[in-house]
This record gives sequence, structure tokens and C-alpha cells, in this order.
Amino acid sequence: MEELLQKIEGYKQEIEAAKVTNADELEAFRIRYLGTKGLVKSVMAEMKNVPADKRKEFGLLLNDFKQFAEDKLEGLKMAANSSTHAASPEQDWSLPGDPLIVGTRHPLSIVRNQIVSIFKRLGFAVAEGPEIEDDWHNFTALNLPENHPARDMQDTFYLNQNPDYLLRTHTSSVQARVMEKQRPPIRIICPGRVYRNETISARAHCFFHQVEGLYVDDAVSFADLKQTLYFFVKEMFGADAKIRFRPSYFPFTEPSAEMDISCTVCGGKGCSLCKHTGWVEILGCGMVHPKMLENFKIDPESFTGFAFGMGIERICQLKYRINDLRLYSQNDVRFLRQFTGAV
Ligand code: DAH
Repeated sequence: MEELLQKIEGYKQEIEAAKVTNADELEAFRIRYLGTKGLVKSVMAEMKNVPADKRKEFGLLLNDFKQFAEDKLEGLKMAANSSTHAASPEQDWSLPGDPLIVGTRHPLSIVRNQIVSIFKRLGFAVAEGPEIEDDWHNFTALNLPENHPARDMQDTFYLNQNPDYLLRTHTSSVQARVMEKQRPPIRIICPGRVYRNETISARAHCFFHQVEGLYVDDAVSFADLKQTLYFFVKEMFGADAKIRFRPSYFPFTEPSAEMDISCTVCGGKGCSLCKHTGWVEILGCGMVHPKMLENFKIDPESFTGFAFGMGIERICQLKYRINDLRLYSQNDVRFLRQFTGAV
């Protein structure tokens, strides 16, 4: 027994003094002391020769010895790790670092986020709907029944498997989805992607982006629509921007209008962008058609609303003077890197 204790003491001193300089030596240490045939195991095997009344005491001692070896191994590991970092001769710490290449937001995302943030300040919440939509939400509920001529204006992609389903042609479909579930007051904007079967060119694309707005409450008036949109335009294009409304037609609004803003390039003097009129169209809008409210069991005698829809690409074109729609989806980083936006 005495002999055994001395042996352990000797190993402990050895362990205490052990040093390693590389991974191989570290592994050799582990095998020598803590391996399956290591010294810790061999000392433990001596237990059977220890008299029964000493076993408990000896057991504690052995545990302590094992712990001692394990702690040392951990310590050596940590020292080895940090020394490979600090002293590695291949590393030259005086070299300049690699530049961190950060991405930029897509111009459409920058503009969408700006639009959303302006309307959020007016109390509008963001609503979303599916891009694969059914006929009801995209057309019929919006007062565009089958065979309505206005359907032809929107060259719709129908799903081959089931022509009741289509790729939404406008974000107005989200109006239908919200009014189906929510009771007034409703104050939402819906940003999203829409699809139309158009030949791709500088001025047309088979997909693009819109932001829809809808406000339904008691006593919402055209004056509210005008002021809301005027606020938006000033926030988006600056305090000097002017707006004008022209009568128009949309099946889901009555009366309907299109809104122009003073040309952002020439300020209204006339240039090629505004075709020398001084004005550029940015959105369609109007007072929600009473039939639409009825479709969703909202009483048109008690509630009125306004709605509007704008193209994000159009706003982007006016802000950044991008004149080819194809640039947005070509993902050319030379184009994309030019835009920096805080939001
Ligand atoms: N949905 C129309 C379009 O795609 C835009 C629009 C016009 C939306 C008038 C509206 C609205 O909500 O009231 O061209």
C-alpha cells in the first residue's frame, strides 16, 4: 500500500512537470496517463490488492489522481492551442486585413422599405397575400366579373393544372383578402410582386412590384385620400413635389383617379421623361366601390374607404432615373452596388 502511494506521488510529480510543444506530444501525454492502457488505469487495477478497510480511502485517492491527470491534459491542450496562434511562423500579423465586402440592398427593396415606412408613420399596417391567387380574390371580388373587359387589360398567367388559379396581376387582391377577415377600421398597405404576360423589354416585364393601400372607416373621404397621398409624395420626393389628379376608371373604385407628380427630372419645365408635359403618372386610386364593401359584408351606408396602387419600379425610376426595367432582375453587381439606402 505504501509502495502504491509513493508510485502515485511520483506520477503526479511527473505530470506536474510535463510540457508539450506539439499535437503529437500532447497525444503521447494522453496515452501515457489517460489511455486505456495508461498509468491511471494501471494504478486503478491495483485496487484488488488493497485491504478491504483501506479501499474507500484508496478509492478517493485514485479519483483525485485521475482528476489531476485530466486537468493537466486540459491545461496542456489550451496552452498548445494558444501557442499555435501566437507563435505560428507562417503568420505575418503586420499585413493589412482582408477587406470585408458587404452587400447592398436592391434598389427595389430600398424604395419599398421607404414607402412602407412613410405609410407606417400614418398608421398603416403591412398586409400580405399569396402570389398564386384565385380568380375570386384577384378579379371577381374586386368587381371584375367574368367577361369584364377590364380583365383583358391585365394579361394574366393562368395555372395550367387549374385555370381557377393564376399569378396575381396586382396587389389589389390583398385588399380582398383583408376585407374578408377584418372589420373596419382597416388601414393597410400591401407590398408585393405581381405578374403579367408581357414581352420583356425596357418598358415592360412579366413580373414587377406594387404597393397597394386601403383605408376603410366611417366617413373616409376623397380629401383624406388626397392628403394621405400628398404627404407620401412630399416624404418620398421632397417638399417641392406637386400632385394632380386625373379622372380615370378602375372597377374597384368609384370615383377613380390617376395621380401625377411634378416631373422629378425637370421639376415641371418639360423633358423627355415627362414627355414635355411636366407631369408623370405614379398611381391609380379612388374611393372603394360600394359593391366591393358589400362583397365582404361591410355596410356601405356606414363605411367608406379609399384605395390606391402604385408600381415600385416606377417610383424607383423617378428616384434613381433607371430607365430599363430589365436591370432590376439581371442581378448585375455593377448595377446593384450603386445603391445605398439606410432602410
Ligand atoms: N390594381 C391597379 C393596377 O394594377 C392599381 C390600382 C388602381 C389599385 C386603383 C387601387 C386603386 O387600389 O384604387 O393597375
